[in-house]
This record gives sequence, structure tokens and C-alpha cells, in this order.
Amino acid sequence: MAEVVLKGVGKCYGPVVAVRDFNLAIADQEFVALVGPSGCGKSTTLRMVAGLEEITSGVVAIGGRVVNDLPPKDRDIAMVFQNYALYQHMSVRDNLAFGLRNRKVPESEIAAQILRAAKMLGIEPLLERHPRQLSGGQQQRVALGRCLVRNPKVFLFDEPLSNLDAQLRSQMRLELKELRKRVPTTSIYVTHDQVEAMTLGERIVVMKDGLVQQVGSPLDLYRRPANRFVAGFIGSPAMNFIDARVAAAGDDVMIATEGLSLRLTDKVAATLRKHAGNAVVMGVRPQHVMLDGAGGGNLLRFQATLSTSEQLGDQQLLDARLGGTLLRVSGIDAALKLADGTMLTLAMAPENMHFFDAVSGAALG
Ligand SMILES: Nc1ncnc2c1ncn2[C@@H]1O[C@H](COP(=O)(O)OP(=O)(O)OP(=O)(O)O)[C@@H](O)[C@H]1O
Ligand SMILES: [Mg+2]
Repeated sequence: MAEVVLKGVGKCYGPVVAVRDFNLAIADQEFVALVGPSGCGKSTTLRMVAGLEEITSGVVAIGGRVVNDLPPKDRDIAMVFQNYALYQHMSVRDNLAFGLRNRKVPESEIAAQILRAAKMLGIEPLLERHPRQLSGGQQQRVALGRCLVRNPKVFLFDEPLSNLDAQLRSQMRLELKELRKRVPTTSIYVTHDQVEAMTLGERIVVMKDGLVQQVGSPLDLYRRPANRFVAGFIGSPAMNFIDARVAAAGDDVMIATEGLSLRLTDKVAATLRKHAGNAVVMGVRPQHVMLDGAGGGNLLRFQATLSTSEQLGDQQLLDARLGGTLLRVSGIDAALKLADGTMLTLAMAPENMHFFDAVSGAALG
């Protein structure tokens, strides 16, 4: 069993607080992705689990054992970094064997482990080559192999794919998923790429400024972001945000902004009624804004002026001006010809609208 538990974990570098009060229990064999913008404390958190960074406060436990004072080599973890850190003067085989030889594992056992890992990663034909004779993707596979041969309790990944080009990244993403099925090891995967986090993580931890913002499954985060930051970070293209005001008149609850006044219906109205008179931020994903509002009768319709459109081949992205805000709309038929300046009728379903406190950014309702 290799549950990883972080309790109230914090890290300060002198006056710099890199991570504060980090709490998370990662189940045995669970794959957790840690995501957030540059400098938010992802690597620091991972390095504390690895033992490469001293823990300022709190407790880290692996497999039920507190490891705060345990050196990295005794934690039974294996780590893959962005720069593969392969030994350039050694063959792939010796790179894979290195850690095991250090541990005085018998040579016959090493050979068996190397063969097993090489088969799994499809790098058998490369074993006698040197790292410089490999492509970026192949080097990354060797780096993964170095972890696999160790059979660790926990895998720690720090942006392992970010040196690769987009196409190779998505291929390696799939390979990681496949690998995971065959070797279901507890894993923490650090990335700043929300797509990587969404596709790989069984659970995702979103961080900002050293603080956990939300923990949840990919769909949880997408559908029920806890605050404006998570809402804007998860999903592509990013969610639209519109400053607005809530007004109640009798039974009606309205949301109003420059160029837009919508009467909210049942559930949404009930949630927002208590915020009447307050400034809020309304959020709607580009995928959830429709053109001409074909379909359902409960759609909220409004007008906006087309500012620009972007042709992607399979679809168009539109930027529509609504008062002072540009509203992004995606998933528009690529064949549709729309002149800039056209007045568009747009529509959205009430259940796809999000509302956030204008000051704290916390999700309302
Ligand atoms: N050795 C150090 N000394 C002082 N400050 C540090 C040190 N290492 C990291 N920091 C600071 O701690 C914060 C968190 O850094 P960390 O490397 O964990 O971020 P990150 O989320 O991994 O970012 P990135 O996506 O850029 O890798 C940053 O503000 C960083 O400047
Ligand atoms: Mg980092």
C-alpha cells in the first residue's frame, strides 16, 4: 500500500512562502495531477514529497509512515523530471541499470527488470544506444524506464513532457495512460498544462500562489469550479467573464451588464436572489454560447456585435462585443460566412452560467 498523505504542509524560503497549508490524501494507486501557473508551488510540493526539499511545517506520510526526516533514497519513490537527466556517457541499458546497481541489486535481476521496462516502453531496440542518439520522445521513454525498473511505491513527475513538441506530447500522454493501466502505481504529476492535467489526472489539484484552490475530478472542476481562478484556468478556450449586477424586482431576478439584461429562471434565480444589488462576475464557457439560439425554449437570448472571427478549419471562434466586454464563442460552423460588425443573436442555457463574487472570486450558489 502506498497512500501519500500531506497534512498542513508548508514551505518557506526565507521570507518567500512557496506553499501553505497543503492538505491531501492520495489513495494507493491513484493518479493525481497538480496544476497551476508558474511559481504557484507545484514543484516545491512534489520535491517535499520526494525529500529533495526540507518541509517547513506539516507532515508528509508515504504508505502510513511519516517521511519528513527520511532521505530521498529511503522513501521508495521514483521521479521523472522535465530535463530527463540521462547520463550522456552511458548506454540506455546502463542508464536503466544505474539506480539498481547503486542498490546492489543482483545483475540477473537487473537484466530482467530492464527487459520488462524496455518491452513496456517499446525501447528494446535502443538499449545499446547513447542518449544523444535518441529523439526527445525516446529520451523521455528512457527516463520513464529508469523509474519503472525500480518498482517504486510512488511515481513523482515534474513536467515530464514539457520539452517535447505538441504532437509528441499528446502521443506520450497516451503512452503514459497505457503504462498506467499496466503499472497502476500511486502517482503525483506536476504540470502547468491544464489539458495534460485533465486527460491524465484521476483527481486534479489546482494551485495558485502556494495555495490549493480546488481538488476534484476533471469533470468536477470543469462543471463546478470553486472560484473564478479555477473556472478560468480549466477549459479551453478559457471561460468568458462579464462584470454584472444582480437586481430583484418582485418575483423576477435579473442579471444586468452594459448591453445585456437577462431574466434568470428558477434555480439560478433562487441562488442569486440573496445577492440582489451586488456586483457579481458572470462566467460562461465559449462552448456554451450558441449562435442564433436554435433549440431549447429556456435559452437566454441576447445581442452582440461580431468583432472578429478566427477560422480553425473544423470550426470558427468568434469574438463578439457586448458592451465593454469581448465574448468568445466557439464551435461555430466553419462554413458560415460572417462579416465583422454583424449583429449576432447569441444564446446560452441558464444551467451553463456561473456566478462569482466580484471581490473574493468565490463561486456563488
Ligand atoms: N530555492 C528557492 N529559493 C527561494 N525561492 C524559491 C526557491 N525555489 C522556489 N522558490 C519560489 O517558490 C515559489 C514556488 O516555486 P515552484 O518551483 O514550486 O513553482 P512551480 O509551480 O513549480 O512553477 P513552474 O511552473 O514555473 O515550474 C516561487 O515563487 C519560487 O520563486
Ligand atoms: Mg515547477
